[in-house]
Amino acid sequence: MILAIETSCDETAVALSDAEGRPLVSKIASQIAIHARYGGVVPEVASRNHSHDLRPLCEAALAEAKVQPQDIALIAATSGPGLASSLLVGNTFAKAMVVGLRVPFYAVNHLEGHLLSPFLNAGGTIEPHVGLVVSGGHTLLIEVRRVGEYHLLGSTKDDAAGEAFDKVGRLLALPYPGGPHIAEQAESGNSQAFSLPRSMINSGDFDFSFSGLKTSARYLLDAMSEEERQSSLPDVCASFQEAIVDVLVSKLIDACRATGHRLAAVSGGVSCNRRLRSQMANAAKKAGIELLLADPDFTTDNAAMIAFVAAMRRKSECPPSSLDSDIDPNLRLGSSSHS
Ligand code: KG4
Ligand code: ZN
Repeated sequence: MILAIETSCDETAVALSDAEGRPLVSKIASQIAIHARYGGVVPEVASRNHSHDLRPLCEAALAEAKVQPQDIALIAATSGPGLASSLLVGNTFAKAMVVGLRVPFYAVNHLEGHLLSPFLNAGGTIEPHVGLVVSGGHTLLIEVRRVGEYHLLGSTKDDAAGEAFDKVGRLLALPYPGGPHIAEQAESGNSQAFSLPRSMINSGDFDFSFSGLKTSARYLLDAMSEEERQSSLPDVCASFQEAIVDVLVSKLIDACRATGHRLAAVSGGVSCNRRLRSQMANAAKKAGIELLLADPDFTTDNAAMIAFVAAMRRKSECPPSSLDSDIDPNLRLGSSSHS
C-alpha cells in the first residue's frame, strides 16, 4: 500500500493506492471556498488549513480503505513546485510518518504527477508520448521517453492556461477560480461571437502566450456597457475558451507530428474542460493519434497522481528519496531544449 500526500497549493489531498498505483481512496479537503473571498490563494491561510486538515484527512482515508498504518509500505509527498509553506506541511507530515513506520520515502514533483496522471487508469504502463500539462500554474508540452526521462518541448512565455481562465474570470466578476465558471457559461454561448487572438499558434515552436488574449478580453469588455456585458457573458466566455482550446489543440498535434509520437496525453486542472476534451479528441482522431485524457476526477490537484508516480518509480527501480531532501517551490521538470 502506498500513502501519498499532496499539499502544493490550496488543496489538502491524501490517497491510498496499491503497488501498481491504482487508487483505493483519494480524498481532498478543498480550500476553494476559503480562498474565494480573497479572489485567489493566500499562502499563509493555505498552510494553516493544511496543518488543520491533514491528520483527520489521513485518518479518514485509512478508515475508508480499512487500512492499518502498518500496511503502508511506502510514503510519497509532493516536494514542489508550489507554495513553500504549503509544501512544508505535507512534507514534514509525510517524513514524520516515514520515521514512525520505517518505510521508504519518495519526494514527488507535482508536475510529474499531472503529466503521468492520464495513465493512472490505463494499466500502469507508461508508453513514450507527448504530454500536455495545463494547470493553474503551468502550460507544458513534454516529450516523455520513459518514467523519469522528460524533455521539455515548450511552455508558456507568460500566463498559464488556467491562470488566463482565472484572470478573465475575475474581469467577468465570476467567482474564483474562474476556469470552471467560464466553462459553464460557455456551454450556452457562441464561440464565434467575438474574434480573439490565437497567440503564437503559428510560431513554429511549442511555446505558448496567453497574456495578449487576456488583454484583448479586457479591451472587449471595456468597450461594453454593463447591460451588454451581462447579456453577452456566455458568448464572451465561449469565444475566450475557444481561443485557448484552439491553441492547445494545435500545438499538441504539431508536437506529435514533430516528434513522431502517435500517443498524446493531456492532464492538469484545465484538462477537465469539456470543450478542450472534445476538440482534442476530434483533432487526435483526424491526425491518427491515440489520445489519453486524465480522468476528470484526477485533473485538478489530487494525491492519487502522486502515489502513481511513486509506484512507477518503484517499478523502474528508482531509489527512494533521502529524508534530508528539501522542498523546492521552483522545482522544474525535465531537460529543456531552450536552456
Ligand atoms: O491542476 P490544478 O488543480 O492546479 C494547479 O496545479 O495549478 O489546476 C487548477 C486550474 C485553475 O486555473 C482552474 O481555473 C482550472 O484549473 N480549471 C479549469 C476548469 N476546471 C478547473 N479551466 C477551464 N475549464 C474547467 N472546466
Ligand atoms: Zn496542479
